[in-house]
Amino acid sequence: MIYLDHAATTPLDGRVLEAMMPYLRDQYGNASSVHAMGQAARRAVDRARGEVAALISADPSEIIFTSGGTEADNLAIAGLPPARKDGRRGIVASAIEHHAVLHACEAAGADGAHLTLVRPDERGRLGLETVRRAVDADTALVSVMAANNELGTIEPVREIAEIAHEQGALMHTDAVQAAGQLPLDVREMGVDALTLTAHKFYGPKGIGALYLRRGTAIDRLQLGGGQERGRRAGTENVAGIVGFGEAARLAAEEMAARSGHVAALRDRLWQALCDVPGAERLGDPEHSLPGYLVLRFLGVDGEALVLNLDLHGICASMGSACSSGSLEASHVLTAIGLDPAAAREGLRLTVGRGNSAEEIDEVAHVLRRIVERQRELTGSRD
Ligand SMILES: Cc1ncc(COP(=O)(O)O)c(C=O)c1O
Repeated sequence: MIYLDHAATTPLDGRVLEAMMPYLRDQYGNASSVHAMGQAARRAVDRARGEVAALISADPSEIIFTSGGTEADNLAIAGLPPARKDGRRGIVASAIEHHAVLHACEAAGADGAHLTLVRPDERGRLGLETVRRAVDADTALVSVMAANNELGTIEPVREIAEIAHEQGALMHTDAVQAAGQLPLDVREMGVDALTLTAHKFYGPKGIGALYLRRGTAIDRLQLGGGQERGRRAGTENVAGIVGFGEAARLAAEEMAARSGHVAALRDRLWQALCDVPGAERLGDPEHSLPGYLVLRFLGVDGEALVLNLDLHGICASMGSACSSGSLEASHVLTAIGLDPAAAREGLRLTVGRGNSAEEIDEVAHVLRRIVERQRELTGSRD
């Protein structure tokens, strides 16, 4: 099996699993219990909170653990605007946000918020002037992702945060794809809230966090106990949190080496494919996450490519895993101007730290043959 779908999820690092094991087996205390078992769990949660905070240069008290990126996005979009209590009703988001943000924005819109979606350029990058035109004195919140999950395009979050703050709006960024790949510093970025999830950087699934700048009010999503300083009710997922902390610590320590490795393999893959007739690279190579190669082979259906790669033991993706299986073309690829037929030609290959040059060469070889075969079958040349 060759796995080139690291944007969907990553394998669990063996060192992370080892750090989690005691909390799955013997140290099963509830972090809210006063006895020794409970206090051991509490200490483990606190240590992990420090490690997650360090990954984004935040203070540990600014980290709210959640069940993942989806919940953190929902918490930010549903919880920040109403907590302002100043009557502002505007939410501005990019049109290429993950559905966790977009659907939460639409729900807020149905509840009376004024929703404005900002379109990116043809490479998936937001223009500052476009954002400036959308943000006004009614805007409560601006939400723009740090990097897009279908294209890998890195967005100018710091500059957008400045625009938001000039108008008195709060700034949230979904950094699910960027975290662990790029150095992130919440103070330098100027964001008020930032979403993270562990499973995109070799941590476990089902655990994430919302960074919330100290002093920022937020409404809670779910009712229950007083965990996470009353901001997220529910018994803590101690083993998951410990794994998240260890994955964050390792990502911070190894970031430069990992990025160098995946960027070199990504470039090798593109070099091996760029002369295939009708091959087009999507996204913005100058502002891209290191492991992303998003392609389109003119006239060749992306789903057929994914299925045929799968038959050869190669895991790739059409767009985001969450929208696979739905017949609608990717909202991201249509937002950058592709018509629905062209958008269905998108193929996302995302390299990870475990991939080798031999695997990349094998994928290039197989993919080239599949593209040729598909063209023979459908009668399309390029
Ligand atoms: C940009 C982005 N936001 C949010 C999510 C959702 O995160 P999770 O899978 O932890 O719920 C994902 C992952 O699929 C993502 O890529």
